[in-house]
Amino acid sequence: MPAALTDADEARLVDAARQARERAYTPYSGYRVGAALLTRSGAIFTGCNVENAAYPATICAERVALTKAVSEGAGDFAAIAVVTRNGAAPCGVCRQVMAELGPEMLVILADEERVVVRSSVPDLLPLSFGPAQLR
Ligand code: THU
Repeated sequence: MPAALTDADEARLVDAARQARERAYTPYSGYRVGAALLTRSGAIFTGCNVENAAYPATICAERVALTKAVSEGAGDFAAIAVVTRNGAAPCGVCRQVMAELGPEMLVILADEERVVVRSSVPDLLPLSFGPAQLR
């Protein structure tokens, strides 16, 4: 398991994900997701899900946060917090992207009131396909 965050860092990260969730664009599902990614240097990058009338063009909150961070030159992620109304776990595509970009992150899942799960990425995506398979 990745190292736990301090209570203060975890609260700050979950709060950032909650705020990002407010910006979710979900005219089709109404299911709002917020994510916040913490780098080991202390920077936070947030994301929300952004839906599209052409449904497959929708992008999940987790991948918005990860691609924003990488596109800004950030890496070395310590943790990602994801907030939904029911503390749901990330979809398979987001797990795959987490395994690529933040395999050592702590994944924190929260509902509107509290943290419900703390997990590693390999626990969310066992037996994954990754860079090692391409060597
Ligand atoms: N969604 C996410 O943002 N993250 C996930 O890991 C699962 C699903 C979004 C996509 C879509 O806008 C809505 O939730 C319903 O699937």
